[in-house]
Amino acid sequence: MAFPASFDWLLSAPLQPLALDWLSRAGVEVAVLRLDQIDPLISGNKWFKLTPHLAAARQAGARGIVSLGGAHSNHLHALAAAGKRFGFATVGLLRGHPQQTPTVLDLQGFGMQLHWLGYAGYRARHEPGFWLPWQAQYPGLFPVAEGGAGLLGAMGCMPLVTQLRNQLDALGWDDYHGWWLAAGTGTTLAGLVLGEAGARPVYGALAVPEDHGVAQQVAAIVREAGLQAASYELFDSSRGGFAKVDPQLLAFIEACEQRSGIPLEPLYTGKALLALKQQVEAGRFAAGSRLVFVHTGGLQGRRGFAAPSPP
Ligand SMILES: Cc1ncc(COP(=O)(O)O)c(C=O)c1O
Repeated sequence: MAFPASFDWLLSAPLQPLALDWLSRAGVEVAVLRLDQIDPLISGNKWFKLTPHLAAARQAGARGIVSLGGAHSNHLHALAAAGKRFGFATVGLLRGHPQQTPTVLDLQGFGMQLHWLGYAGYRARHEPGFWLPWQAQYPGLFPVAEGGAGLLGAMGCMPLVTQLRNQLDALGWDDYHGWWLAAGTGTTLAGLVLGEAGARPVYGALAVPEDHGVAQQVAAIVREAGLQAASYELFDSSRGGFAKVDPQLLAFIEACEQRSGIPLEPLYTGKALLALKQQVEAGRFAAGSRLVFVHTGGLQGRRGFAAPSPP
């Protein structure tokens, strides 16, 4: 078993301008930070959220990681791929009952040990004592919360701010006015909020309904980090619930992909960009605004969905 000694090997996400008619009409410029391009398998925001957890596991003398997710989980996918690449053990606790999705087949192929918890069993994940039987069964494994959430996960995303700033010159930007990204647990957003320390706002497009507690989770991370000057805003953009997909969304993704060449998926990045379009068209951002859209990856999860219908 070996956790990576250094986490530098895939940390450069390219920054690309996004040319779309609804942006140019509003005079708003957007650049995309392509976390989906950092690695073919360990893609998106997942790696950034995982690195501090892996460092903590290494420090604790663990031989691997046990974590949670659904049958399309991007988090478990990245974790299992990292375990295979670096040679540490991975155990995945899955929501629901056994099923063979493309993600699950990959998890098995990467050597992750799977346990299906059912729905009630999965709901118990926030209860005190949830981890005890798993720690008894897998004593050398370090538990990581669903989605790599929490302050540790957020701290792993703070370097994205520096990554962006290092690339502004190449884009011809002398500054930027804020960030826009999908929020599931709010951990990645919280990391950017910590990295900006109030200098620029971070806008989160919720992939889950508002009652999922994202606002509370972000506030808790900011509080735990002791940050006074947090600047962020959350937008209700789940379009009827997590993983709910509608024809307008699919048509938007298809059109964007054709015009910009940037692939999106319907659960996070597609909904986030559509929510940005709605805010831009509603006049939320003045002409001349420059925003950074974070492509948080998740493209592996697209395999679980039917192909988008034509616009
Ligand atoms: C592709 C993708 N984008 C965004 C998110 C949201 O990240 P966070 O949970 O840090 O808010 C996730 C996972 O939750 C994801 O898989």
